[in-house]
Amino acid sequence: MSSISIIGVGNMASALAGRALAGGNTVEIIGRDPAKAKALAAALGGATVGRVGTAPSGDIVIVAVPYASAVAVVSEYGDALHGKVIVDITNPITPDFTGFVTPDGSSGAQEIAKAAPAGAHVVKAFNTLPCDVLAAGSVDGRPVDVFIAGDDAQAKARVSVFIESLGMHPMDAGSCRWRGHWRTPPCCSWASSPTPSSTPTSSSASTFSAEHTRTTTKGQSHARFSHWRNRARRFAHHP
Ligand SMILES: NC(=O)c1ccc[n+]([C@@H]2O[C@H](COP(=O)([O-])OP(=O)(O)OC[C@H]3O[C@@H](n4cnc5c(N)ncnc54)[C@H](OP(=O)(O)O)[C@@H]3O)[C@@H](O)[C@H]2O)c1
Repeated sequence: MSSISIIGVGNMASALAGRALAGGNTVEIIGRDPAKAKALAAALGGATVGRVGTAPSGDIVIVAVPYASAVAVVSEYGDALHGKVIVDITNPITPDFTGFVTPDGSSGAQEIAKAAPAGAHVVKAFNTLPCDVLAAGSVDGRPVDVFIAGDDAQAKARVSVFIESLGMHPMDAGSCRWRGHWRTPPCCSWASSPTPSSTPTSSSASTFSAEHTRTTTKGQSHARFSHWRNRARRFAHHP
C-alpha cells in the first residue's frame, strides 16, 4: 500500500485517486479551491483533504495540474516536498500540440525537478495515458502498461509498487538522462530518439514505438495526437 497525495482536482486527479483508493492506497486530495477538493474527496469516498502549501501527507505526491502551473506549484510547496517522490504526469506541449513549451535542451520533468527541494525525486509517469483509460484501468479487458522514467531507482521502485496496486504494469523506460521521451508529445513517446538505456520490452511498447518512429513533422504529430485515445489500445498489456 502507498500513501498518495494528489495536487489538483481535475480529470487526472479524479481518475488516479479513484484507482488508487480501489487499490487499497491512502489518498489525500489537495486543491487550490478547498471546496472542489472536498467535493472530489466526498465523491470518491475514503479520501482525505489536504491544505495547500503545507506538507502533503503522502509519500508519493502526484502533481496533477497543467504543465504551465506545475513548476510554480512545486516551487510553492518548496521544502514541504522534502523526501517525497514527486510524480510528474504533465505534457509540456503547446495548445495546438505541435511543439514544446520547455526550454531547449531541457524537459518538463527536468524543469519540475529544478523547482523541487533536494531530497525529493521526480518520476515521470501516466502522462501517456488518457484519463478515461486510467479510470477504467484496462483496455479491452487487458491491464495497461504505464511507462515510468526517472533518475532515482528507489523512487521508481516506489512508483512501480503504486502502479501495480492500480492493476497496471509499470514499464521502466530508463533514466532522465535519456530525454527523448520527455521531449516528445504523448502520442509519439518512445520514438524518434535513440534507444534508451532500458527499453520497454512488451509487445505493446515495441509496436507503439515502431509505428511512431516516422513521426517527425508537426502535421504528423498533430494528426497522431488527435487520435491518441483510439491508440490507447497500444498500451494494453500483452503477456
Ligand atoms: N486529461 C488527460 O487525459 C491527461 C492525460 C495525460 C496527462 N495529462 C496531464 O495531466 C495534467 C492534469 O490534466 P487534467 O486533464 O486533469 O486537467 P484538468 O481537468 O483541467 O485539471 C487541472 C487541475 O489543475 C488545477 N490547477 C491549475 N493550475 C493550478 C495552480 N496554479 N495551483 C493549483 N492547482 C492548479 C486545477 O484547479 P482548479 O480546478 O481550481 O482550476 C484543476 O484541478 C496536465 O498536466 C495534463 O497534461 C492529462
